[in-house]
Amino acid sequence: MYLKQEEEKLLDSGNPTVAKCMEILIALGEIYGAEKLIKVKSAHISGISYQNIGDAGLEWLESLNAKVRIKTTVNPAGMDLQRWKEMGIAEGFCKKQLRIIRALEGIGAEPILTCTPYYLDDIASGEHLAWAESSAIIYANSIVGARTNRESGISAIASGIVGKTAEYGMHIKENRAPDVLVILDADVDPAMAGFKIGSMLKNEIPLLRARRMFSDDELKLLGASMAATGNAAIFHVEGQTPEWKDFKIPDEKIEIDGDIDEFDCEPDLIALGCPHLSENELKAILKTLMKIDRNVRKDTWLFTSKEISEKNRKVVERIENYGVKVFSDTCMVVSPATERYECVMVNSGKALTYLPKLRKVRVKFGNLEECIRMSCNEKN
Ligand code: F3S
Repeated sequence: MYLKQEEEKLLDSGNPTVAKCMEILIALGEIYGAEKLIKVKSAHISGISYQNIGDAGLEWLESLNAKVRIKTTVNPAGMDLQRWKEMGIAEGFCKKQLRIIRALEGIGAEPILTCTPYYLDDIASGEHLAWAESSAIIYANSIVGARTNRESGISAIASGIVGKTAEYGMHIKENRAPDVLVILDADVDPAMAGFKIGSMLKNEIPLLRARRMFSDDELKLLGASMAATGNAAIFHVEGQTPEWKDFKIPDEKIEIDGDIDEFDCEPDLIALGCPHLSENELKAILKTLMKIDRNVRKDTWLFTSKEISEKNRKVVERIENYGVKVFSDTCMVVSPATERYECVMVNSGKALTYLPKLRKVRVKFGNLEECIRMSCNEKN
């Protein structure tokens, strides 16, 4: 891979952290056939819950001795930083989680602790990014038209510190072309559609043909689910997403029906916000609670970013008046708090995929309204 003089200097800078970050980016570039490094506008680091990375990850982060050169943000942690006791998080866990966050702040990363960084900072079509967090990556590529590969937490840190990434994969226009046309049933739930598409496709990029327009919130759920069950970093939607017209319509075709895959259990927790809830989703939840007009009868947790929560403080207060808890900085999948429940009802194909694997709980699926009705013990 060709390196500029300034990049060679970083390799030989004498700072072991910077040199290691360069080595990581060069190794990735060589594996994937990149010719050079390119500048990225921002990096987003995932995998920072103490539950997932443990002491080894914490010590590695504390060993880093360099500062990021570009805006570098951070995914959810294992607890709400303010309300961790309410979540049932142990003090020992809290201390280790805070050390992780301090270590990230030490390298200059911004602990926004959300998987929806695109709500907080405008990203533009064509911009190069180095993001980890599969749901944010697929959102940035598909819905915004920005360009990022599926980075790991480590390669995102390397990009943050170097300010660059290797030019391969999603950074190159022709690699973003669809391979398969996916026809969606009229009544398909977007999250369930994404769940099925991801399970069916291996590395192909889908172009979706739907009978209606999807909202950005629906596309967010669809993409997050697809990226969880498969390897997708991008999808296109005919007539809707920014790049669908740039490529020819694929010959290969598959159909996705509207049936909901069966996951059945009696929920003792309803958890929404995977990915973190948008302003509109919070408002939709409040509207549904107002329509049912009774307090929740089951534990109900919502997850959103601190910024969205604070910006919508009145909405959040009104939701919490129904007995719901609205947490920030964390989520039902990366926090160990979910493990004390038996069955969790979600409206997310990503949570459906990871909750049984990571938190060892059973799962049930419903759309947003069905989940809130379940919270209130209300018949659908
Ligand atoms: Fe976000 Fe957690 Fe889901 S990080 S995408 S809410 S698994």
